Amino acid sequence: MPEAVSYRIQDGIAVATVENPPVNALSATVRAGLLAAAERAAQDPEAAGLVLAGAGSAFIAGADISEFGKPPVPPALAEVVAALEACPKPVVAAIQGVALGGGLEVALGCDARILGPKAQLGLPEVKLGLLPGAGGTQRTPRLIGPAAALPMIASGDKVPAAKAVEMGLADAVAEGDLLRAAFARVRELAGKPLPARLNTRTDRLTAPGAREAFEAAAQALAKRAADEPQIAAIIEAVRNSFDMPLEQGLKRERELFVMLRDDPRSKALRHVFFAERQAAHIPGLPKETRPRAVNQAVVLGAGTMGTGIAMSFANAGIPVRIIETDAAGLERGRKRIADTYATSVKRGSLTPEARDARLALIEGAVGLEAAAGADLVVEAVFEELELKKEIFGKLDSIAPGAVLASNTSYLDINAMAAATSRPQDVLGMHFFSPANVMKLLEVVRAEKTSPEALATAVAVGRKLAKVPVVVGVCHGFVGNRMLSRRTQQAERLLQEGATPGQVDKALTEFGFRMGPFAMADLAGLDIGWRVRKATGATAPVADALCEAGRIGQKAGRGYYAYPEGARAGQPDPEVQTLIEGVSRKLGITRRDISQEEITERLIYPMINEGARILEEGIAARPGDIDVVWLYGYNWPAWRGGPMHHADAVGLPRIAERLAAYADQTGDESLRPAALLRQLAAEGAGFGSLKPRGGNTTKAA
Ligand code: CAA
Ligand code: NAI
Repeated sequence: MPEAVSYRIQDGIAVATVENPPVNALSATVRAGLLAAAERAAQDPEAAGLVLAGAGSAFIAGADISEFGKPPVPPALAEVVAALEACPKPVVAAIQGVALGGGLEVALGCDARILGPKAQLGLPEVKLGLLPGAGGTQRTPRLIGPAAALPMIASGDKVPAAKAVEMGLADAVAEGDLLRAAFARVRELAGKPLPARLNTRTDRLTAPGAREAFEAAAQALAKRAADEPQIAAIIEAVRNSFDMPLEQGLKRERELFVMLRDDPRSKALRHVFFAERQAAHIPGLPKETRPRAVNQAVVLGAGTMGTGIAMSFANAGIPVRIIETDAAGLERGRKRIADTYATSVKRGSLTPEARDARLALIEGAVGLEAAAGADLVVEAVFEELELKKEIFGKLDSIAPGAVLASNTSYLDINAMAAATSRPQDVLGMHFFSPANVMKLLEVVRAEKTSPEALATAVAVGRKLAKVPVVVGVCHGFVGNRMLSRRTQQAERLLQEGATPGQVDKALTEFGFRMGPFAMADLAGLDIGWRVRKATGATAPVADALCEAGRIGQKAGRGYYAYPEGARAGQPDPEVQTLIEGVSRKLGITRRDISQEEITERLIYPMINEGARILEEGIAARPGDIDVVWLYGYNWPAWRGGPMHHADAVGLPRIAERLAAYADQTGDESLRPAALLRQLAAEGAGFGSLKPRGGNTTKAA
């Protein structure tokens, strides 16, 4: 095995190269290697200075996040940075790729940062619920000024090379060979007194107006600081750069880092980081599987979903043909697409040129025959199984060789596959509304889906900037199947005594942006009503609202009233009367229901359904379910997803509450699932489960 940090002398200069694939994270061996290199170069008579470099595509992607929560192994990163800063010879970072978090902090311990054109610098700790813990909050303000450092650290966004130089975060973008440019900088600095390093520089802190500019930047973050502990900590730490000597500022930064690291919110965000990446590791996919190229996509149906899906392809630069049954339907779809892009242009998030380029990639056609020549077809017609089967049967010969995907929300993909002569090419690609915005893509692997077709759907999903999660066939797949449990309980809570406002408040206080009833009003109650009528299902309160014409915001009334097109609903006494009438009719004596019960009755049944989904192997990992909820339904990231949340609460409590609610309401669907009971009895969590479905392969 190669050393994590190699050391060599080239042209009279020491070069320390970090090689810790895949991203050169700062694992203990890398920290030790960097420390040794700094000490060795300081003593090495052959070295006029030291250049730090990264092997592969990353310079250093930061701390090894998988080490957090484990006992610390010396040397600490702060020690490494201090050793670089104490080196009596010039030290230059040659940054060819990402320098993130601790990676940038290492570079801040150097005399200069020379960039390759693909370099990206950033302090993304905030996204993990942390602050930079190895001097980033103290040295960045000393380098670029506190007013510029604060928004950079609080956003966590990567700064591209040219911008980094402009901000003063780096010295230059190398023209030509990066290592040569770094060597040149070492020679410039060598043999004369070194310029002041960041541990002694205070000029940016004492500059006129620096404090006022910083306080204005802090003020702009006040709202976030109230909600997110790491933002408050970042403001405090950066402010300390004015008020404390470096040593003391670093000490306080460390305290804040440890406090945040041990906070359940940061643990949840770190879980999300790995869960999202784990989802790309697909069980049972042979290593040699290669996705097919998709150079032409076809979308069937120019409705709500079809138009959103077509825009996703165009936004990713993939030519797409959208097919309707008639010219009028196509025209409606075109208008929807044009309006969506027009809104983006008006908001300034899209230039007119980019809009035109995207529109040029979207072609319209009438009739299924136009699917000829497609590499991938995504079907998004009405939610009717017979119609979908008929379409798949025809696509089989119209688009030979194409991967055939359905965007169905609930229907049986196996049945669609069986309508073709090549079920291995059929799967589900379930987008979420609005499809051009939402990041989740449930890739539904049917019984006979081939590894190649699956890999193709996942690879396309990633190209579309989605987060693909592979799931199995069942009614509603992972997301909607769990959602239906919540919807059921929300309806029952109304019947038992809660108001729509109380139910929605329980969920917004839990961290969702919207509760189920505000959401239902926004989406329209008529869709679900139609489905219930077709399937013989009932939801007495929702049905009564629809019968009264209260089908949601578009009618100006639903669970709430929306006088004169108001966007925020207001409680409506008519709804209360209607709900009380339903309770009477069902013979239910209404009672006061605590917010705690409401929250638990909405969330725990979803977790219970998640447990059944794991039992059945519909999802391979609890983390996959979390990713579905994070990116498909805006589950609050700091709660890590439903299954992580369950582990954080403790499974014994969840099993006990579900059993109690089942007894109390007589609703047997609330009875804890076998897997939940088993893990609770073992004192284990969902996080302890091994992935189902065999060895995993990371999708290309
Ligand atoms: N620690 C441990 N593993 C990491 C890692 C890190 N910092 N960053 C990435 N990885 C792993 C991923 O889990 C993934 O593993 P698998 O191959 O097993 O799935 C692999 O590296 C590749 O990652 P991506 O799939 O994300 O690859 P990418 O090319 O799309 O992106 C990246 C690369 C831009 C570096 C991205 O991974 C990233 O943003 N990483 C996180 C960077 C970060 O947050 N750094 C700050 C850490 S906190 C810190 O540094 C605190 C401090 O002050 C000391
Ligand atoms: P929609 O009713 O808005 O659009 C369906 C479109 O398909 C209509 O424009 C219709 O004219 C067209 N169509 C019907 N038969 C066709 C055919 N034979 N060939 C070509 N086009 C045809 O419906 P929506 O909401 O876009 O849903 C489409 C599919 O996506 C459904 O299966 C639905 O369950 C699923 N879905 C819907 C979501 C949503 O939030 N609306 C979310 C995720 C999936």
